[in-house]
Amino acid sequence: MSAFSWLFVGNGVIARRVAEELGKGRILGVTGRTPEHTRAFAHNYGCRAFSDLSEALEAGGFDAAYVNAPNRAHFELSRQCLLAGLPVLTEKPVTLNAAEAEELIRLSKERRVFFCEGMWTRFSPIIQEVIRRVRAGELGKIRLLRADFCYPYRLSGFSQRVFDPEGGGALMDAGIYTLSFCQSLLGLPGDFSVRTRKNGEGIDLFDEIEGVGPEGAEFRLRCGIDRLSLCRAEIRGTRGKISIPLFFKPVKAVFRGQKRETMRSRRGFCWEFEAVERAVRAGEIECGQMPHADSLAVMRWCDAIRKKAGIVFPSEQVQKKDRTC
Ligand SMILES: NC(=O)c1ccc[n+]([C@@H]2O[C@H](COP(=O)([O-])OP(=O)(O)OC[C@H]3O[C@@H](n4cnc5c(N)ncnc54)[C@H](OP(=O)(O)O)[C@@H]3O)[C@@H](O)[C@H]2O)c1
Repeated sequence: MSAFSWLFVGNGVIARRVAEELGKGRILGVTGRTPEHTRAFAHNYGCRAFSDLSEALEAGGFDAAYVNAPNRAHFELSRQCLLAGLPVLTEKPVTLNAAEAEELIRLSKERRVFFCEGMWTRFSPIIQEVIRRVRAGELGKIRLLRADFCYPYRLSGFSQRVFDPEGGGALMDAGIYTLSFCQSLLGLPGDFSVRTRKNGEGIDLFDEIEGVGPEGAEFRLRCGIDRLSLCRAEIRGTRGKISIPLFFKPVKAVFRGQKRETMRSRRGFCWEFEAVERAVRAGEIECGQMPHADSLAVMRWCDAIRKKAGIVFPSEQVQKKDRTC
């Protein structure tokens, strides 16, 4: 079988981490915003640099695109790929809001082109096993789910993207992992409360989301870019509990029921990329680990949280004004 060939759309911090893991030979092309950065990436990873996505799509020869530009650009870049018939894996959060996610999923279904959110946590064998056990009822009735993901932005080494008024903030950057985790295990909540701390520019620095899932389980989620937390997740049921240190990139989970078991696995992007490669080769239009419906459900919840917290992106304000004209 010939090697799967990726087009990287964006070449920043996360693109370099993924490229290090994929190794040479699987990335055939790269595009970006700043030509020198794109050329440097192409040089380091032995692939072809394109001046923009249209040029790369015209050249063709890729099996899939990996969109890793900042959140504000996910929709348009993914849309271009889908319209060109190129399967696409789009970094988390999949889009800025549910309307955008809905449109991409519609295109994917209509044109039978693969589309998936790059929520890498979902592809981890540990998380897959946790989901399996919870859904199989091994913990009994779920009573409580807790997850937190806070990191001090200043020490993170990430670019300014986190403070982008259009799609930045703690909820979109870190909170999305806690929402996706909670949704995968409990489903979407009916009602919930939100407590937010923002900076002077209205960017959320910390969010606390609490509520009750559809089956009555309580959940408490915290995310922040202004502090450090243990980034632990815990699920408690009537017959046992599971704790996952560093749940968004886990290497182990501890199951406590009638006996105690520890599951360990390798951390990495390999699970996600291999699953996508398999799905694309099999002619699927989505991945079982991160189905369209789940990405959309999480974006809908995210919209509802932002509404309660008063987090509105500039493009959404423009759309609102247009509608009232
Ligand atoms: N899965 C994970 O673990 C993980 C971790 C971190 C981030 N992420 C996600 O990955 C994405 C990128 O994060 P990052 O930290 O890598 O950001 P970054 O370092 O700022 O990199 C973004 C890249 O996209 C390029 N870019 C910007 N606008 C573009 C456009 N319109 N078209 C094409 N390329 C464009 C940038 O070009 P320049 O050369 O001009 O800057 C840069 O190469 C975000 O959505 C983030 O949420 C995922």
